[in-house]
Amino acid sequence: MKVTIIGSGYVGLVTGACLAEQGNNVFCVDVDSKKIAILNSGGVPIYEPGLKEMIERNRAAGRLQFSTDIAASVAHGEIQFIAVGTPPDEDGSADLQYVVTAARNIGLHMTSPKVIVDKSTVPVGTADKVSAAITEELGKRGLSPELCSVVSNPEFLKEGAAVEDFMRPDRIVIGTQSTPAGLRAKEQMRKLYAPFNRHHERTYYMDVRSAELTKYAANAMLATRISFMNELANLADLVGADIEAVRQGIGSDSRIGYGFLYSGTGYGGSCFPKDVSALSKTAIEHGRDLKILDAVEAVNEAQKYILVEKIEKRFGKDLSGKKFALWGLAFKPNTDDMREAPSRVIIQELVKRGAQLVAYDPVAMPEAKHCMEVDFKGDSEGLKKVLMVDDPMAAVDGCDALIIVTEWKAFRSPDFDLLKAKLKSPIIFDGRNLYEPQAMQELGIEYQGIGRHN
Ligand code: UDX
Repeated sequence: MKVTIIGSGYVGLVTGACLAEQGNNVFCVDVDSKKIAILNSGGVPIYEPGLKEMIERNRAAGRLQFSTDIAASVAHGEIQFIAVGTPPDEDGSADLQYVVTAARNIGLHMTSPKVIVDKSTVPVGTADKVSAAITEELGKRGLSPELCSVVSNPEFLKEGAAVEDFMRPDRIVIGTQSTPAGLRAKEQMRKLYAPFNRHHERTYYMDVRSAELTKYAANAMLATRISFMNELANLADLVGADIEAVRQGIGSDSRIGYGFLYSGTGYGGSCFPKDVSALSKTAIEHGRDLKILDAVEAVNEAQKYILVEKIEKRFGKDLSGKKFALWGLAFKPNTDDMREAPSRVIIQELVKRGAQLVAYDPVAMPEAKHCMEVDFKGDSEGLKKVLMVDDPMAAVDGCDALIIVTEWKAFRSPDFDLLKAKLKSPIIFDGRNLYEPQAMQELGIEYQGIGRHN
């Protein structure tokens, strides 16, 4: 099928590459000419495992192209995906200006029937706004609104596993309108996703608003599990229980399951913080305060400070003269994404208390350097206190303790003897519970995890 993807960001690129991989002819368009130039010269502006190779393969096969030409992009696809950004407004609601502009452009240029797919994460009711914008543009040109139908098809892509998630999805959610054009759109979507349903049907067809709400409900549920476990971990620390034993004890209940029950330094990234806040905003707009979401957010904000609290308790409030190594900067492993990363709060708070930091991350250091300049804007002294080195053992050299913030695989089994030899004192603050407290004790390492009975 001929498909257009509007927006060559994270979601757009993964969607475009994966649909091309299944044999579709995909046209990716973006207003950012620099980004398109990078893509056309064989580069990929984001880091995502497997994506670069997939883009290369499909470009070479002539199934994937990148352009800034909006009119050509509208002419190309019988299916037009909108995958542009929906950044949070100051009040936490999703800013839809890019989505609506994309819709207007489609209405302005289309001459044949099109299926318009909302792929961006958008609040309930957005499909109606997209429909209205296109219809208005069509009307100006004397064309029938029946030429287009808007579908909601939210993404459930985890950063670091996005290609895998797209190619082997748990489920595909498709919300369509009940008009004749909507029914035709449903058939086209069925055809497009048929290769992903080969072994068993994973698609859930529903109305547009339910599909829009499903996306937020999924992310809010996951964020709720994390905040709940973080609260319990903090309690476990107080009562002398081990949160890891508790996680296994409750996860074995099939109604609960094991996944997404890991306590840590709080969730970050581009999705959970933004989506929880946008859902809360939607509810308030409809006269309902979803108190559980307020609690999820508040707990998460507080959790970003938990390691700082533990460090203060161990070393005192004044950390001047102290030097700490930090392993992991990205908000989670396998990505260079620093958006809402707990490491940013931890670094700022420790520097505020006078500490010096030596940080290492396998992938995110260039991005982290940029973020540090933003976070320490106007505080050049503070910025100087954050050093980045490209070797984890070089980072710990002469430090008062090691702080682990992201659970990269490479941190799971370090050479503990070398680690001990390099650290001034063998102390680890582990924000991701990578090690067993018992094993650390045997190694003579003072160890503080999150909710790990210490
Ligand atoms: C998430 C959703 O999983 C995905 O379906 C959606 O489309 C986009 O948002 P992502 O933000 O890439 O994906 O990351 P995810 O792997 O879900 O982790 C989110 C955050 O939760 C990370 O900061 C992670 O460290 C944290 N987390 C996750 C925990 O603290 N504990 C857990 O048990 C799981």
